[in-house]
Amino acid sequence: MFAIRADLLDFTAAPSWGTPTLQGVRWRPDHWLLVGDDGRIAGAQTADPGPDWQRHDHRGRLLMPGFIDTHVHAPQLDVIASYGTGLLDWLANYTFPAEQRHADPALTAAAAAEFLDALLAHGSTAAVVFPTVHKASAEALFAAAAARGMRLIAGKVLMDRHAPPALCDDVEGAERDCEDLIQRWHGQGRNAYAVTVRFAVTSTPRQLAMAGALGQRHAGLYMQTHVAENRDEVALVASLFPDARSYLDVYARHGLLHERAVLAHGIWLDATDRALLRDSGAQIAHSPSSNLFLGSGLFDWQAAIDAGHRVSIASDVGGGTSLSLLRTLAEAYKVQALRGARLNAWTALHAATRGAAEGLGLGGEIGHLGAGAMADLVLWDWACGPVARHRDAVARGALPGCTEQGLHARVFAWMTLADERNLAAAWVAGRPAYRRETGP
Ligand code: GUN
Ligand code: ZN
Repeated sequence: MFAIRADLLDFTAAPSWGTPTLQGVRWRPDHWLLVGDDGRIAGAQTADPGPDWQRHDHRGRLLMPGFIDTHVHAPQLDVIASYGTGLLDWLANYTFPAEQRHADPALTAAAAAEFLDALLAHGSTAAVVFPTVHKASAEALFAAAAARGMRLIAGKVLMDRHAPPALCDDVEGAERDCEDLIQRWHGQGRNAYAVTVRFAVTSTPRQLAMAGALGQRHAGLYMQTHVAENRDEVALVASLFPDARSYLDVYARHGLLHERAVLAHGIWLDATDRALLRDSGAQIAHSPSSNLFLGSGLFDWQAAIDAGHRVSIASDVGGGTSLSLLRTLAEAYKVQALRGARLNAWTALHAATRGAAEGLGLGGEIGHLGAGAMADLVLWDWACGPVARHRDAVARGALPGCTEQGLHARVFAWMTLADERNLAAAWVAGRPAYRRETGP
């Protein structure tokens, strides 16, 4: 049993879009968060819980639920920040060559461990992850997540065309690998299996049909893929699937759109697509740093709100340039600014925590600091370095007397200026998972 004293921030419901209000925001300054021996949150209070609890006094720091990165590629730490290309050339020139190395079980096991430790060191305690086409790479990720007690959703990548031969599977072999991985890992500890169609370009219609059937055969499977990221890609999909109404429709036709489906990007969608997302309960994993870096386009978050479909937030490393969801949210704000909209800090942080958890059907387990949730926690410094410290002091000075706007101003400045250097510590299921070695 232990207790952490800090400023507690989480969400009880979706905040309002646009002008920030405190709707759905749970702000408990200078509280103790209590964690039981079962690794779950037992409660929160202002009073010192007493010597029966191992007490960690972090007053003046910010404690939040661990972030949930809903779309990221484990093998792509090798190609993060690669120069000069849009999506299709980037895949061909950098990503596919790097992913081929993961045929080696020892290499992929070491990479999985390094990747999950990096996620934790950036404040993400749960993730929806692409490994590679190799069964061993999915196996390695599940094993590494189990060793760390992390909530992980992943699955062997399916691709049987338009990729180098060394990265192509075939329908029957892929199905066998998926079945085996599902038996071994789906629902084991905190692991869950996702049918992982890389994107419509790299799967034949027969493989898509197999993937859809797999999802219907096993209860609770997730589905992860990419959709409508880049205009050349959209045109290519239209030429490969001339009967489909849209890129998204390719997945719908193959039974791949459902409430546990996570589709990265969703930039080039129309109103019919968005209604389909809403009706299916699928979520878009918005990946702003990737979209800017690869020049893919500006996601229309307002249209998603209007249509009523779910949006979570994702690093999409290695198209994205950081595993930090704080840096990613700062990019998300700028993407909306370019569209003439404003993303408030509450909507942004909710998308990285409770919103993502609920979209994954995991609202009882992760994404908030309510009693009964797993103690997947991240402890942040409000400011690192002289500029952020100065800005935070100004924001704090303005706080008394104007709590609603003042609190948003402070948290927004933190969200915009902070990154992984602000992370002091992380816990997974109540166990220490990361601790920064030096001061802020
Ligand atoms: N579309 C298909 N594969 C990928 C990938 O690895 N990254 C991104 N950003 N888009 C993709
Ligand atoms: Zn991706």
